[in-house]
Amino acid sequence: MKAHNLVPLIIGLTLMTTNCSSNKEAGPAAGAGRPFGTTPSGETVELYTLKNAKGVEADISTYGGVVVSLKVPDRTGAMGDVVLGFDDFKGYLLPPPYFGAIIGRYGNRIGHAHFMLDGVEYKLFKNDGDNSLHGGKRGFDKVLWKAKPLNGQSLELTYLSKDGEEGYPGNLSVTVVYSVTDNNELKIDYTATTDKDTVLNLTNHSYFNLAGQGEGDILQHQLTLNADRFTPVDKGLIPTGEIRSVQGTPFDFRQPHAIGERIGSSDEQIVLGGGYDHNFILNRSGAGLSFAAKVTEAKTGRVMEVFTTQPAIQFYTGNFLDGTIHGKGGKVYGRRSALCLETQHYPDSPNHPEFPSTELKPGETYRETTVYRFSAGS
Ligand code: GLA
Repeated sequence: MKAHNLVPLIIGLTLMTTNCSSNKEAGPAAGAGRPFGTTPSGETVELYTLKNAKGVEADISTYGGVVVSLKVPDRTGAMGDVVLGFDDFKGYLLPPPYFGAIIGRYGNRIGHAHFMLDGVEYKLFKNDGDNSLHGGKRGFDKVLWKAKPLNGQSLELTYLSKDGEEGYPGNLSVTVVYSVTDNNELKIDYTATTDKDTVLNLTNHSYFNLAGQGEGDILQHQLTLNADRFTPVDKGLIPTGEIRSVQGTPFDFRQPHAIGERIGSSDEQIVLGGGYDHNFILNRSGAGLSFAAKVTEAKTGRVMEVFTTQPAIQFYTGNFLDGTIHGKGGKVYGRRSALCLETQHYPDSPNHPEFPSTELKPGETYRETTVYRFSAGS
């Protein structure tokens, strides 16, 4: 190599070294993912750790975009994992309670597994009686997402859902960014675009127990829900179309109540849900993030607040958990051992023109954000 050719090489090498060392100083803790397992079709699944300076930590899997663990402090500063899940990736291949996963294309149920859009009928997979639940046979909780660490505190996951996948129209490009912020928040930003008119309803299905995963049931957790109204369901848990006031019902969480206080009530809706498994319509104040829910746990002092841009939230009390699942650390996950607060559009909206629309058209960008903020009382 001639001497004058060496100059750009040296400059190039110097720049590379400088970049590497400055990256190191920035502390790319999310760095490269580490192996978490292999899918039945032989693809490698990775796990990424996001961490803030206060030690709050989330492990995210590229399979299903699952929040595998979420460690937050109690009132003494001791960290505890507050979400249900599995140590071993294989747990996530079992029939789904959807622990921690990204749900799509359509969160919750679509009645009779079909809908009309632009005069065309679309048929979906029936995986919940006569209905389609959480995206169908292979929803976004069962696909491999492409991961790109943005820095030590954020991870970008992308997935292209092909036209016709699970019966839904349009090539849908989805991006989900998980961040662990310096305010001890797990922040989830969703964006999506399509090349054909379609419907979508994205959410996250984390199961929380603020006493720690596997530490008993959540019946003593206190819940506040910023919702004056909810959508009653039929026996298949499909909204009837009625919008009902929570006033004077076990669904009134506008003031904090223990979750277990009214869960045994003979209220027809509680009986149909086997507990709470309902869509609450949030009292929103304009666009942007707005307060949705607060959960407190007395023993640990842990508090979780939920803020969202979404119009509604599914409050589910783990009624289908039955103690047959052994999760992280061999913990047995019994009935109501966790709660879900799935921010969303109303279930079955494509069949309810009176509900806020879940349609997305080419040229539009779907954008939603949900924040789970953790703190600990004295
Ligand atoms: C949602 C539904 C529940 C149940 C769980 C997953 O929260 O509303 O009925 O299907 O998912 O088990």
